[in-house]
Amino acid sequence: MDSKNFSGGFFIAFEGIDGAGKSSLIRMLHEKMSQHQIATNVTAEPTKNYLGKHIREILSGDREGDEKTIAALFLADRVDHLTNPGYGMLVQLGNGETVISDRYYLSSYAYHVPHVSLDWVIEANSICAALRRPDLTFFIDISVEESLRRLNASREKLDKFENERRITEVRQNYYAAIEKVKADENIVIIDGERASSEVFEDVWQAVSQWMHNHSC
Ligand code: TYD
Repeated sequence: MDSKNFSGGFFIAFEGIDGAGKSSLIRMLHEKMSQHQIATNVTAEPTKNYLGKHIREILSGDREGDEKTIAALFLADRVDHLTNPGYGMLVQLGNGETVISDRYYLSSYAYHVPHVSLDWVIEANSICAALRRPDLTFFIDISVEESLRRLNASREKLDKFENERRITEVRQNYYAAIEKVKADENIVIIDGERASSEVFEDVWQAVSQWMHNHSC
């Protein structure tokens, strides 16, 4: 990979059901990008900003909020995540930095259905797609059994949505959403149930290929 000619402004999103291993892959990718001297910011949704904080309070059960409120808050958090003049991703991407986000609008398609319809959530998020589609979205796929195994091993207390029925539904929703939007999005499905070095090899292969194709 010749990083010297890479023009930057590369937007990568990571997706997957809970426990898919996104965080370690993102850490590995961040490190690899630094080794190639590619300025990279790592971020996540829900964000750590003011709307993201409200969302986390609801997800952890500290504050009440129904599913439609949650869907609307995630949308607002995402628009702010893109457009905020201080910490917004559009500013960073505009400066030629690469941005890696742990979750983006594909998560909304997977997690808010059936509380809101898939068509509604795609339409509502079209304002984000119009502002910035990811150049590359990774869907790190693991089975529901593996997700539960990893969650139980790593957490004392699971969030309100982390149970077998819900995780099964979310995984199915991801597949239905990917099928629906695949013509408009660059989604790469990766088998996440292998050794993390092997999974990362596939991620790096796709990232370096994209950068190679977009070098001047
Ligand atoms: P988090 O603790 O950050 O989990 P993870 O490390 O798996 O990303 O919580 C994020 C939760 O928010 C996760 O269960 C998915 C959910 N979520 C939505 O419901 N809608 C969304 O649009 C996004 C981005 C996340």
